[in-house]
Amino acid sequence: MNTHAQSIYLDPRLGQMHQVMLGDRTRLEAYDKALARDVRPGDVVVDVGAGCLALTLLALRHGAGHVYAIEGDPATARIAGAILADNGIADRVTIVEGDARTVSLPRRADVLVSEMLGNIGPEEEMGEILAICAERHLKAGGAIIPQRLTTVINAIRFDGESWGVWSDDLAGYSLAAARPFLGSSAQLHFFARPPELLSETTALAAIDLGQPPGALPEHRDIDIIRPGRLDALALAFEADFGDGIRLSNFPGYPGCNWAVFIWPLASSQVAAGDVLRVSIRPGAWVRDALSWQIDCGIRRSTQRDLQP
Ligand SMILES: C[S@@+](CC[C@H](N)C(=O)[O-])C[C@H]1O[C@@H](n2cnc3c(N)ncnc32)[C@H](O)[C@@H]1O
Repeated sequence: MNTHAQSIYLDPRLGQMHQVMLGDRTRLEAYDKALARDVRPGDVVVDVGAGCLALTLLALRHGAGHVYAIEGDPATARIAGAILADNGIADRVTIVEGDARTVSLPRRADVLVSEMLGNIGPEEEMGEILAICAERHLKAGGAIIPQRLTTVINAIRFDGESWGVWSDDLAGYSLAAARPFLGSSAQLHFFARPPELLSETTALAAIDLGQPPGALPEHRDIDIIRPGRLDALALAFEADFGDGIRLSNFPGYPGCNWAVFIWPLASSQVAAGDVLRVSIRPGAWVRDALSWQIDCGIRRSTQRDLQP
């Protein structure tokens, strides 16, 4: 068989994207637990953004009678079709190729499941897409997996990685003079080790999935709870599936396929009691997290202890 002949149909980057998602076992475990809880034998399930059918297959395992697997990307839908045929489950799964916001389905679902979680939560437009899908395709009282998507933020110090390397000494010398040449734009980062947290994890914005998302808050105040060198803000998501089932990319875990969004700051010493006022706004292309913008100001506490 000429395996290369098949590759002309698929952008290799697309395959790699699904590969890392399928390799993220913690992600699949969270969905598996929620599907085990919500799917009843014979249920109709809609998988929104079905990709290579990971969630569809989990739903079948938990007794779904039929799954409508909606996939907007034609090349990915074609792969899904091949997986379906290979497993002999074409009678239990219908692949619906098209934008989930506009496709029609022949019946309503008992369960709507989706994984369109962005690095910071909302940038894959999961809130908007699921609100439309719930209204058009979910039975009254049907379940949505996951239930809530929150963008969380931490004030952090880096040691020896990412933006923090410019503050660390190298052989007793400083690299800080390089900073003005580098600018401070958003970065996506996989941590080599957990950073030092200078704040509690704070919710910046949240969406109840299935409901139209509200506007982003104008700002949030983040309390500094311990003194230290503030290098950056770290933004990530938390998906809440109910009953204690949750998924987050911060802190990361082995195999985590989401990077953390880093907003570098001019490093400075902060003290417990200082407050950061942060606002976030979508960039020109909402799906590109790196185009999102953060504004951050600091209010210094009058009684400051800068000793770490
Ligand atoms: C993060 S992947 C998840 C794939 C799969 N559900 C999984 O968990 O492995 C999101 C998928 O949603 C698809 N997608 C994104 N926006 C969509 C839309 N508006 N309508 C249909 N599919 C969409 C993408 O093409 C991609 O395959």
